[in-house]
Amino acid sequence: MQSIFPQGFSALVVGATGAIGGAWVRHLQQDPACSEVVGVARATGGGFDLEDESSIERLGRALADRGPFHLIIDATGALTIAGRGPEKSLAMLDGEALRRSFAVNTIGPALLLRSLAPLLAKGDAVYAKLSARVGSISDNRRGGWYGYRASKAAMNMVLQTAAIELQRRNPRVRVVALQPGTVRSRLSQPFARGVEHLLEPEESVAGLMQALGALPSKSGAHFIDYQGQEIPW
Ligand SMILES: NC(=O)c1ccc[n+]([C@@H]2O[C@H](COP(=O)([O-])OP(=O)(O)OC[C@H]3O[C@@H](n4cnc5c(N)ncnc54)[C@H](OP(=O)(O)O)[C@@H]3O)[C@@H](O)[C@H]2O)c1
Repeated sequence: MQSIFPQGFSALVVGATGAIGGAWVRHLQQDPACSEVVGVARATGGGFDLEDESSIERLGRALADRGPFHLIIDATGALTIAGRGPEKSLAMLDGEALRRSFAVNTIGPALLLRSLAPLLAKGDAVYAKLSARVGSISDNRRGGWYGYRASKAAMNMVLQTAAIELQRRNPRVRVVALQPGTVRSRLSQPFARGVEHLLEPEESVAGLMQALGALPSKSGAHFIDYQGQEIPW
């Protein structure tokens, strides 16, 4: 099947030091259709912190000359923050931990989207954010993980809202929430024991890229997994 990405497309990966972000950079470097991939992260390629709005604005300005990009991937995110893992019950909720989870998984990525959306190419272009299936409200049957679930669900709403706005100017832009599967990484390591099919980052990214390349344009955002299956919001 023909990909929506043109020959010689350019890409930007934010969070390139992560397991999934790093695999995205390597995958795109090996893709003969991709002429340039720029990787940035907290400590490399200009540097920014999701909890520091001015650093995100600086990143956007620093990247302005490198665009336009046909594909932007935001692979940042955190589940354990300052040593605190996900909550198992209401009694475990902690205001500061909830604020940090929203700062890293919702507010920072929303500000990144604000700074980077102007760098998207005209015509077929994709802005994809690593989300998580646990951010699906209708798929939540097990409970727990309040802060992570809620901050991902809130980011999904930001993506849907941004899709509507960006598509007024470019109906062929795809805004996408991605579920990568359970992937071997720093983030998943404390919770990966007993997972039946733990994916290597490369396997997840290969599936995600295939799914993005085949994504039809539609009104609003997409929420898909690494096999290209749609996830209910
Ligand atoms: N692994 C899974 O099974 C899984 C499942 C579902 C969804 N996801 C989602 O996939 C994404 C990537 O996860 P991963 O497994 O690749 O995790 P990871 O290896 O821990 O990578 C996380 C990335 O986010 C960056 N980051 C975290 N906090 C930051 C901050 N305050 N400022 C700037 N950058 C920050 C990290 O930068 P540093 O290297 O500087 O820390 C790193 O580049 C996340 O959004 C996660 O929620 C993962």
